[in-house]
Amino acid sequence: SVSEPLKVMISGAPASGKGTQCDLIVKKFGLVHISTGDILRAEVAAGTEIGNKAKTFMNEGQLVPDEIVTAMVTARLSLEDVKQNGWLLDGYPRSYAQAQSLEEKKIRPDVYIVLDVPDEILIDRCVGRRLDPTTGKIYHIKNLPPETEEIKARLITRPDDTEEKVKSRLEIYKRNAYSISETYSSITKKIDGNRAKNDVFTEIDSILSQLQNKKRKVIALA
Ligand code: AP5
Repeated sequence: SVSEPLKVMISGAPASGKGTQCDLIVKKFGLVHISTGDILRAEVAAGTEIGNKAKTFMNEGQLVPDEIVTAMVTARLSLEDVKQNGWLLDGYPRSYAQAQSLEEKKIRPDVYIVLDVPDEILIDRCVGRRLDPTTGKIYHIKNLPPETEEIKARLITRPDDTEEKVKSRLEIYKRNAYSISETYSSITKKIDGNRAKNDVFTEIDSILSQLQNKKRKVIALA
C-alpha cells in the first residue's frame, strides 16, 4: 500500500543528541536527514561561497544569517528523494523567521520532537564530543569512545565545542526556542534526552511508528 511519507522535525539545545538520534531514525525509517549543521560544515570544508560566509558565524557559535540557511533548506526539500522517502529536519528552523518561512511555504511536520537535557550535561557532552571525518560518526570521549585505535587517531573536535562557545550557543538556543515552539505547540513531543541513547530512541521509535500507522490508515480510508 502507498503511504504518505513521514515529515519529522527534531529540535533541542546544542548536544542534546539530535545527530545521534537522527542516525537511528534514518536506519529504521529511511527518512532523508537534512541537518543544516552538517550541510554548513560540508560547505565550510569544501571552501564554497556559502561556506566562506558561514564559517565565522559557526566558529563563534553564532547563527548563520537566515537567508543563507533558508535557501539551502528550501533547495534540499524540493528534491525528489524527499518526496519519496519523507524528511527529517535537524537544526532547522532555529529562529522565528525560519519557522515563518516554512509556514509560508505550507511546509509543516507531522511531529515536532524536542530533546530535553539539563544545561550542565550539555556542556560536558559538547566538550567531550569527537567526530570521525571518514564515517561522519559522532563519538564522546567518555560516553561513546571510538571502537579502535585507528579511528581514535583520526577523530576531530569541532571548533565551536569549547566550554565558552557552548555557553553562548546555549543562550542563543534559549532565546529562540520559545518563539519557534509556539508555531508547533499542537504537534510537540518533548522527550527526556538525559538517558542512554537507546532508551531515548525507544520513545522516538514508538511515536514515529504510531504516526506512520495512522497515516497508512488515513490513506486506506481515502
Ligand atoms: P548544529 O550542528 O546543528 O549544532 P547544534 O544544534 O549546536 O547541535 P549539535 O550538533 O552540537 O548537537 P546534537 O544535538 O546533534 O548532539 P550530538 O548527537 O552530536 O549547528 C552548528 C552551527 O551551524 C550553529 O551554531 C550555527 O552556526 C549553524 N547553523 C546550523 N543550523 C542553523 C540554522 N538553522 N540557522 C542558522 N545557523 C545554523 O551529541 C552530542 C554529544 O553527546 C556526542 O558526543 C554524543 O556522543 C553524546 N551523546 C548523544 N546522545 C547521548 C546520550 N543519550 N547519552 C550520553 N551521551 C550522548
